[in-house]
Amino acid sequence: MTKRPPSAPRPPLPIVIVGHVDHGKSTVIGRLLFETNSLPEGKAESVRATSEKRGMPFEWAFVLDALQAERDQGITIDTTQIRFQTKARRYILIDAPGHVEFLKNMITGAAQAKAALLVMDAEEGARDQTRQHAFLLHLMGLETIAVIINKMDRVGYQERRFQELRDSIGRTLHEMNLKVSGVIPVSAREGENIAAPSAHMAWHRGETLTALLDSLPDAPSQSEKPLRFPIQDIYKFDERRIIAGRIESGRLKEGDRLLFSPSNKSAVVSSLESWPPREGRGFSAEAGEAVGVMLDRQLFLERGELASHQSDPPFLSDIFRARIFWLGRHPLTPSVSLVMKRATSEFSVVLQSVERVIDAASLEEVSGERVSRNQVADIILRAPSLQALDSFGENGLMGRFVLLDGRDIAGGGVVSLDGYADQRPILEARMRDVSRVSHKVSPRERELRARHRGGVLWLTGLSGSGKSTLAFALEKTLFDLGYGVYVLDGDNIRHGLSEDLGFSVEDRSENIRRVAEAASLFADAGFVALVSFISPMRSDRARARGIIPNFHEVHVSADLETCEARDPKGLYKRARGGEIEDFTGVSADYEVPEGAELVLDTGVEGVEDSLRRLVEYVEGRFRLVPEGVSDYEI
Ligand code: ADX
Repeated sequence: MTKRPPSAPRPPLPIVIVGHVDHGKSTVIGRLLFETNSLPEGKAESVRATSEKRGMPFEWAFVLDALQAERDQGITIDTTQIRFQTKARRYILIDAPGHVEFLKNMITGAAQAKAALLVMDAEEGARDQTRQHAFLLHLMGLETIAVIINKMDRVGYQERRFQELRDSIGRTLHEMNLKVSGVIPVSAREGENIAAPSAHMAWHRGETLTALLDSLPDAPSQSEKPLRFPIQDIYKFDERRIIAGRIESGRLKEGDRLLFSPSNKSAVVSSLESWPPREGRGFSAEAGEAVGVMLDRQLFLERGELASHQSDPPFLSDIFRARIFWLGRHPLTPSVSLVMKRATSEFSVVLQSVERVIDAASLEEVSGERVSRNQVADIILRAPSLQALDSFGENGLMGRFVLLDGRDIAGGGVVSLDGYADQRPILEARMRDVSRVSHKVSPRERELRARHRGGVLWLTGLSGSGKSTLAFALEKTLFDLGYGVYVLDGDNIRHGLSEDLGFSVEDRSENIRRVAEAASLFADAGFVALVSFISPMRSDRARARGIIPNFHEVHVSADLETCEARDPKGLYKRARGGEIEDFTGVSADYEVPEGAELVLDTGVEGVEDSLRRLVEYVEGRFRLVPEGVSDYEI
């Protein structure tokens, strides 16, 4: 429940309004705006005057039409998000032209209603449409519903008719697991029971529509929910690391112990800053604030990790349910691979199965395991590794995601964790049961024998930029200088350790992870490992930097034209001809390093010059006794 100081205003409540137009939805809205003094000054009068001039009886729905017309000219209120307020709180009434838009907006997060208002006609009663509307609310995941039985004037304000309808709609909603917060008999046209109690319906004991709305619970504020702080960026200032991001929910203060997911690492917040800095707030921040956090110890963390408190962490799972709205050009079928984007994290997912498909226009269930554009579906998604997840029901912001097919947004959805177990205990057990064993030879002893430190020179660059040429030349020179040195080269490793991998983003990422782990072992053994891989993704290189203690990034930076002109293996030609897919620089991205320790433009300088700079670099940083030791001369 929301804890607010008694004096604080109630947060605005977004409510979606559904109901057939003929059942008086627009009349209800027009009347509600009028009676809560939420219409622009003189609006009702001017619409009344226009109706008279045209010899038409005045209708409250015209007020809405007039607002709509103004909106179309870009003047006033957005009639799909109508604001009004009672004495108790503000409301945002969300209206949309049809089911498809409604569902799309709600499921993808464009509209975020917390409650619903269902309008039905007292004379006509519940019809197929009413059932459909109830189903619509169910699909949107809304639980709190207020019902308006409108046009009571047409049934002589009879209590019996009201009771009949109240009971039947109650049953319909109940069958769909929807909770009815109240049912109000009104006549929107006559203004009965809207904001003032109706004399015609004294049997109703005076509750009005506005009173019912005011009694609906507040939408819980994001700050009151468990802490969710997704890492957006990590800034490096000398040895310090500042983790930056926006708090999506909960509160954060200095001294808090944070748990990062999915890595399951933890550290204490040693200092906290918010942007813009806020005076007199102490060292705490809450949902909606952008903050920078320093930790009491160094952890290797990446963008996309999600910080929480230990007491209320997100779920860890590589499989989960979701309800999606599909917008993709191609139908979605099992085994299709997509990218899921949520807060600052992006990861690949594969559609495991389709449980139910509903056409958003007809609201009919469609059979089969194929989701087409404008369909809503309950699906099961699988990710290649554990992900930090919150269900939409628990945290509306964190439980929502977008699906990308290539670069196109192909859908939006909400996470449900029903039926799947949290895998954090398994991860923790694994971390606990597998412990490290230590060597009897210390790193220092290895260094003293080798007379140089172990570490990694990570050469990254386009295919044909000269990485391997330089790496093998450097290996020979360093070897002759007495170094323990070894090249790990892309083409070679792909014949063994990574023979099972291709060139998709995921496979490259796994390739780089393996190489980073292998290179780290070489470094630990006291070698200078020369890693020569395209390694096109910044995040993969950052992860390698995190794995390897003495890591030096070298950008072999010849530009694409130069590399393509060289084309030593004829691969660019084949890639241009469509023979090779996902070829870096042609049909796959290369993310240029931003913080490389050394940049060698082999398009400008010759191999000998680059080599000399590399040798100087290694001699300067890896030799144990730096003074006057280098006997390397060209
Ligand atoms: S990385 O992207 O995962 O780092 P890696 O360096 O191992 O790539 O392998 C690159 C080598 O594989 C290139 O030098 C080239 O010979 C070959 N290759 C084959 N297909 C591709 C491709 N689609 N993109 C890039 N390199 C490819």
